Amino acid sequence: MLNFFKSSVGKKYLMGLSGLVWAGFVAGHMAGNMTIFISKEAYNAYGHAIVSNKLLLYGTEGALIWALITHVVCAISLSFSNKKSKGAVHGGSPNGSKGANLGSTWMAIQGSVVLAFVILHLATFKYGTHYETTVDGVVMRDLAKLMIEVFQQPGYIAWYVVSLILLGIHLSHGVRSIFQSFGLLHPAYQPIIRKAAIGYSVVVAGGFLSQPIFVFLMN
Ligand code: HEM
Repeated sequence: MLNFFKSSVGKKYLMGLSGLVWAGFVAGHMAGNMTIFISKEAYNAYGHAIVSNKLLLYGTEGALIWALITHVVCAISLSFSNKKSKGAVHGGSPNGSKGANLGSTWMAIQGSVVLAFVILHLATFKYGTHYETTVDGVVMRDLAKLMIEVFQQPGYIAWYVVSLILLGIHLSHGVRSIFQSFGLLHPAYQPIIRKAAIGYSVVVAGGFLSQPIFVFLMN
């Protein structure tokens, strides 16, 4: 079993599985953030409900940390063995064609920007200024106030736009490779899987993008 996960195929499975954890999280996170379109109170109440459910919070955080480390370690390890054997990591041909290598380098660039984005994002929001507010008599963190403050800065919006577009591209390639790694990319289904992966990524990245733009324009 351990030997399997040390093999290239095993690492691709782990990359797919860990990518799936993040793909599920970002879809849920994007959907939850849509409460900002309802009202600041709704957004704060939503954030408060999440952090109050310790099982959900710690369970999610544990899964995300495991998935992030696994994804990055497998990506680095596969790219080393890929360089050695001149093979391909993501969806490329095993004959090590130039196109496939360019594809995995491009995935690595996107992944690195998304990782930098996540680190800065956590510093800004999760560990950012702790404003407080009261909604329906309950004292809670005023995340809406922080969000409005952050998204008043054009430089910040620009960074979000670039990062979220790269996230969308990374997700669409990644979701397709998950099918490939799990051996589910039957040629007959390739076009529909490709369209579904693009659709999912456009919804997630587009949904996220709408939030800073809305906050910027409305405040
Ligand atoms: C417009 C886009 C986004 C907004 C407005 C936003 C907003 C927030 C806020 C306010 C929090 C803090 C929640 C809290 O501490 O209660 C948070 C946490 C977080 N966000 Fe985002 N987010 C966005 C996009 C993203 C993206 C694209 C990713 C990942 C690629 C991401 C990953 C995370 C993670 C990992 C956490 C910490 C979750 C936890 O500790 O359980 N966010 N986000």
